[in-house]
Amino acid sequence: MKIPGRTFGRIALLGLVASALLACSATGERPESPPAPAKPTVLITGASRGIGLELARQYAERGWGVIATARNPQQSPGLVALAASRPNVVLEILDVTDPGAIEALARRYAGVPIDVLINNAGLLGDNDKQKFGSFDYAAFDAVMDTNAKGPTRMTEAFIDHVAASEQKKLMNISSLVGSISFTFGGQTFYRASKASLNMIMRNLSKEMRRAPVEARRAVIFGLIDPGVVDTGFAKNVPIPMITAAESAAGVIRVIDEFTLENSGNFIDYRGRKLPW
Ligand SMILES: NC(=O)c1ccc[n+]([C@@H]2O[C@H](COP(=O)([O-])OP(=O)(O)OC[C@H]3O[C@@H](n4cnc5c(N)ncnc54)[C@H](OP(=O)(O)O)[C@@H]3O)[C@@H](O)[C@H]2O)c1
Repeated sequence: MKIPGRTFGRIALLGLVASALLACSATGERPESPPAPAKPTVLITGASRGIGLELARQYAERGWGVIATARNPQQSPGLVALAASRPNVVLEILDVTDPGAIEALARRYAGVPIDVLINNAGLLGDNDKQKFGSFDYAAFDAVMDTNAKGPTRMTEAFIDHVAASEQKKLMNISSLVGSISFTFGGQTFYRASKASLNMIMRNLSKEMRRAPVEARRAVIFGLIDPGVVDTGFAKNVPIPMITAAESAAGVIRVIDEFTLENSGNFIDYRGRKLPW
């Protein structure tokens, strides 16, 4: 069968459009504009479960616009139920170890002020792989990539979204076990990753005060220990744990109280200043 020239042209054009759309989805780009979040707006990483899911739930109950990000949001029953019951919750796919995905999400929300960015996603890593004498360096890389580099990438990508907002808060879920003066051995990779996170964010809190882009000078940085929380993250802990709901409520109170004056501090979910 002979295809007339004009029809052939249309088929070729359709093919081009289809392959362009496929290329977009393959790179994680989403061509359509994002839903306009309610105000104020919080963006949370690692919101699929644990403390991140609870933070999303409690901010949603407050009426905030919640951009809840997770590696596989559709596979988190808690997140799917939250988004179904709360129109102010938007789900986004995000792996914090994927620089391209972070940049694409920042572009997708270009011009949207984010009042509070919470770097919550975290990885403890297998205990057996962080035992001296048989350190597994690939496991070390994975823990650092998620806990230290992930928040750093997020900060670079989203600093202007935060700077453009009213509250301007760049908050990080750290851990008391990242305290150098408090440490007592074990979990070397995880401790190192949180100590690194603490230094990076405290350092940026100082550096940003002299930022060439004036709006960035007012960004408030925070490092927050959420307590020992019963999420399945920490195992065989010989002390009583708090629930994710108690932890998230405390973390939100601490975030509310962060100002430029205490920017860069390391504070626990009860508001107590922690030793570095
Ligand atoms: N629980 C505690 O006692 C405790 C104490 C001190 C500090 N923390 C810190 O609190 C934060 C949350 O911990 P949690 O107790 O809620 O732990 P969790 O229940 O294990 O949740 C960890 C979250 O991080 C996400 N995540 C891991 N790697 C990721 C990546 N590459 N990209 C995006 N998301 C990723 C997980 O997503 P998936 O569902 O896709 O795996 C999950 O949503 C962590 O930063 C942790 O270090 C926890």
